[in-house]
Amino acid sequence: MNLWNKLGFSDNPYSPRPIQGDEQGVKLLVGRDKELRRLTTYLKSSDTHPTLEGPNGVGKTSLVAVAGFLLKKEFSEGASQQALIPISEPFQLTVDDSAAVFKRRVLFRVAQAFIDNHDLLKSKGYNIPDSSNVARWLNSPILSTQGGGLNVAGVLGVTANSGSAANTSVGFSEDGFTTTVLTWLRECFPTSSSGGFICTIDNLELLETSKNARALLEGIRDEVLGVKGLRWVLCGARGITRSVASSPRLQGVLAEPILINPIADQYIENLITERLEVFKLDDEAIAPVDSRGFGHLYAVGGRNLRNAMKYSEDFSFWAVEHGAERSKSDDLYGLIEAWMAELADQYSADTSSVGGRAWGVFEKLASTGGNTSPSQYEEFGFESNQAMRPHLRSLEEANLIESAIDDTDNRRKTIGITSRGWIVNYMRSGFSSIEGKKN
Ligand SMILES: Nc1ncnc2c1ncn2[C@@H]1O[C@H](COP(=O)(O)OP(=O)(O)OP(=O)(O)O)[C@@H](O)[C@H]1O
Ligand SMILES: [Mg+2]
Repeated sequence: MNLWNKLGFSDNPYSPRPIQGDEQGVKLLVGRDKELRRLTTYLKSSDTHPTLEGPNGVGKTSLVAVAGFLLKKEFSEGASQQALIPISEPFQLTVDDSAAVFKRRVLFRVAQAFIDNHDLLKSKGYNIPDSSNVARWLNSPILSTQGGGLNVAGVLGVTANSGSAANTSVGFSEDGFTTTVLTWLRECFPTSSSGGFICTIDNLELLETSKNARALLEGIRDEVLGVKGLRWVLCGARGITRSVASSPRLQGVLAEPILINPIADQYIENLITERLEVFKLDDEAIAPVDSRGFGHLYAVGGRNLRNAMKYSEDFSFWAVEHGAERSKSDDLYGLIEAWMAELADQYSADTSSVGGRAWGVFEKLASTGGNTSPSQYEEFGFESNQAMRPHLRSLEEANLIESAIDDTDNRRKTIGITSRGWIVNYMRSGFSSIEGKKN
């Protein structure tokens, strides 16, 4: 029995992991009706690929997962004739990826998606490849040696001819695989209105510089983003999606980013109540962090949902360890404040190397929402980017901010306050007046 079971929950209601695309996820996703509608409308109606831009931990991955699930549901229940079917698990691009390697990874997963969705597509009259045929490809030496790692035979409940003579025949080649999958896609999804598989490239900010990101995406423009039967969603933080979408070579391929802002305070109570409701086993369940406590932690953590979830989880552990989880709601709230204040003290003790001017930068940054770019030096009272740099460096060394380098797009907000930084900010702002402060 884990801690959550002991508290009367089926699972951790404060999990900082993204919401999954399933019925439960639909219930958990709160306060995103508008964004959800925009994203699904885009996927249904446009030939350009939608992009999402929003700060870390704001809920991008969750939004895409639920959108994909809802679109597939509409199709499978007959409310829509357009087969928009998400490929589970987003893709990530890394600087080491070449266009060819990435394309191969995508087509491999597409082949798998044909198997996973075979019955659904077939029942709707779609022209799809025979699963045993797909399985033969997936188990062919060219693919299995490079470890897609999927047990296709298991998925199908049949013994695919792995290692048999058929697989080593001349028919199985890298080029053959590419051509075959592209043909399947074309035949299955001949027009935009017939649909396609939804693929996500998540966390574009991991590419660090927008130059890297642009180069990689331009490289896959025709062979991956342009493939018929695939709908792409690109997500990123710190301005990188915006930067990529504005590349002239990707115009008409990528749509203007949908901006994902922090969930408004008015939804927060509902958001956490819904979570507790979904995971509680019965009415006896004990929530160490209720809606008031969560609202407080959300405000402390700079309106970053992941921070708020993580703090709530950590506090729950602390409360149980100290036998305090059954305290009355008001007492628990007091404990949350005290616990957070102690953490803030601890973290602040590690910041002795940060000087006065750097603290000025930090405070200004926190009061304007926590994200900025080095090109905003004037707003921070500096004459140049270079003059601000040492102060940013000292904040970064104290783990209060994180930043990425960017030589290509000065508008990118590459600097952000860390989870720890928000806690220190809480102390520095006198442990108060955080609630109600708008970004
Ligand atoms: N609309 C929502 N309602 C309730 N919980 C949410 C919502 N959106 C996100 N969450 C929760 O917030 C946390 C962060 O969500 P998610 O991982 O989707 O953010 P993200 O923007 O993709 O973050 P990152 O930029 O770091 O990848 C997770 O715990 C997730 O379950
Ligand atoms: Mg994410």
